Amino acid sequence: MNSIYLDHAASTPIHPEVASVMMKIMTEQYGNASSVHTFGRSAKRMLNGARDQVCALLDCYPDELVFTGGGTESDNLALFGVSSLLSHKGKHIITSSIEHHAILHTCDQLEREGFQITYLPVDATGQISLSDLEDAITEETILISIMYGNNEVGTIQPIKEIGELARSRGILFHVDAVQALGAVPISCKELAVDLMSFSAHKVNGPQGVGALYVRRGLQLNARLYGGLQEKKRRAGTENIAGVVGFAKAIEIMYDQLKERTDYYVLLRSTLLDALAREVGRDFFIVNGHSTEFLPHILNISFPEIDSETLLMSMDMEGIAASSGSACTSGSLELSHVLKAMNLPEQILKSAVRFSYGLGNTTEEMECTARIIGTILQRIRKRDHR
Ligand SMILES: Cc1ncc(COP(=O)(O)O)c(C=O)c1O
Repeated sequence: MNSIYLDHAASTPIHPEVASVMMKIMTEQYGNASSVHTFGRSAKRMLNGARDQVCALLDCYPDELVFTGGGTESDNLALFGVSSLLSHKGKHIITSSIEHHAILHTCDQLEREGFQITYLPVDATGQISLSDLEDAITEETILISIMYGNNEVGTIQPIKEIGELARSRGILFHVDAVQALGAVPISCKELAVDLMSFSAHKVNGPQGVGALYVRRGLQLNARLYGGLQEKKRRAGTENIAGVVGFAKAIEIMYDQLKERTDYYVLLRSTLLDALAREVGRDFFIVNGHSTEFLPHILNISFPEIDSETLLMSMDMEGIAASSGSACTSGSLELSHVLKAMNLPEQILKSAVRFSYGLGNTTEEMECTARIIGTILQRIRKRDHR
């Protein structure tokens, strides 16, 4: 049977070179970076080396990077860390209605703690409007948190412009760049951004490792208390194998970034062309922005069939993709992202997210389209019986 993995936005396969450097550390270099003996000093050197390497690639200073336990922790640290420190200045935060739950559920908690949150709407392509953002700003606004690129539809936000607006009003700006890392070039210094979240397992690195960029001079309340690690911003013994693996993964990602993202665009167009042939151009709809999109994410609705049925049928043929919807106690919860884009119900119910990367080929895209074509033919025959 085929085995085609098209769910890289959920988690990516670890790169063999990343696994190899991590394995060596886990089996041979098990010191604690806080210990003063040779093992500890060696761990510390590796930690510093990994930080230097990540910072060189992301264009920031080593003291601006806090290693964390993943994208969710980075998002939590950014929002709680800043809001608790600045609550005397104001209690208003602006975000968008299509953020990842790592942001939305953090905002729910902040609301319970007395903060006011404005959730900006998006248009049918998934973008916020700068004038909506400008209108939402009040004297009380202390933080704006907007994702770089969306994890369900891939839409990229006008991050540069949002940053400039935030800076001109003296408001801090956090960016969830978990899906954007490795998909677009990112320079922390060039963007007017104060905090930016990253995660290793979206870039062929290990699960449970991430980082938060914190602009120099910006104070942050810690969420975890204990040791003095990460300049008191994140206590806990550092995951040396994890952060070295993360650094290696970004290094590999950034090597030939343009060629690789061009290849993702080729995979995307191959899938779309093959679907047009196998399914018929009038029988699917692409959700998201037509030019401002992350190249590795493609969200498509097939209105003839609901997402879960199509995903299960594809899974039986060895193809793994996903939908934004989650099944909670037997009832299908529709994607909050597609809902916010105000799309018709049939589009919401039939959306599938294809996300691709390391190891995927154009042949796999052709094969996927053929299998979807066959599944839809079966449905059409059944409905005409
Ligand atoms: C946009 C975005 N933010 C945050 C996260 C959470 O990252 P992690 O899985 O590393 O906790 C994800 C994961 O899917 C994501 O796509």
